[in-house]
Amino acid sequence: MPIISPSILTADLSNLSLAIEMINRSEADWVHIDVMDGVFVPNITFGFPVVEAVKKLSKKPLDVHLMIVNPERHFESFKNAGAHYLTIHYETCQHLHRSVQQIREMGMKPGVVLNPHTPVQLLHDILPCIDMVLIMTVNPGFGGQKFIQSSYTKIKELKEMISQQGLNTLIQVDGGVNLVNAGLLVDSGVDVIVAGNTVFSSADPIEAISQLKHCRIPS
Ligand code: DX5
Ligand code: ZN
Repeated sequence: MPIISPSILTADLSNLSLAIEMINRSEADWVHIDVMDGVFVPNITFGFPVVEAVKKLSKKPLDVHLMIVNPERHFESFKNAGAHYLTIHYETCQHLHRSVQQIREMGMKPGVVLNPHTPVQLLHDILPCIDMVLIMTVNPGFGGQKFIQSSYTKIKELKEMISQQGLNTLIQVDGGVNLVNAGLLVDSGVDVIVAGNTVFSSADPIEAISQLKHCRIPS
């Protein structure tokens, strides 16, 4: 069964505690927090105080997705705010190996994210140093966008690379995941599903999380 990481970007932010309590009661495994700086991506979202507030309420580990330039300036603050996984974009790091090492030395689990245009082959040498690869299945910045179909090929290529190197790196997908494509994604090798709209725009978010957790390939 996949790990489910609901993205609170699409939650009712005027009642964030309700969203976190719902996640606590659900079959979700992690909480996905999208940090955007208005520079790397067009949108601005959460900073450290919000991550800290979520940490106080959440019984599940925080899966923090940084969409910010020069992310290394803030690793320590995210550690102090309670991040468990810290995932940084390949496109934002000049010295990715150093950044990944720093995240691990601080006691967090490092992940690397690829934008839709970035080939998975670029991760060949960094793969043994990271716990997770996040394949963006939309262009980062907003919830509720349409899933990019060519992502399946990337997932399969990445899965192949991971097994060739004898690793057990997690493959995460983020963007446009719904109850129809979730099963196909898991079948292609995905370990972690991020879902914003599918969870928080549902009339029954707990049930939507359960359906993602137990997703099946559509016949
Ligand atoms: C987009 C974010 C996603 C977003 C996904 O840049 O990284 O985590 O919340 O939202 P949905 O699942 O609605 O596409
Ligand atoms: Zn995200």
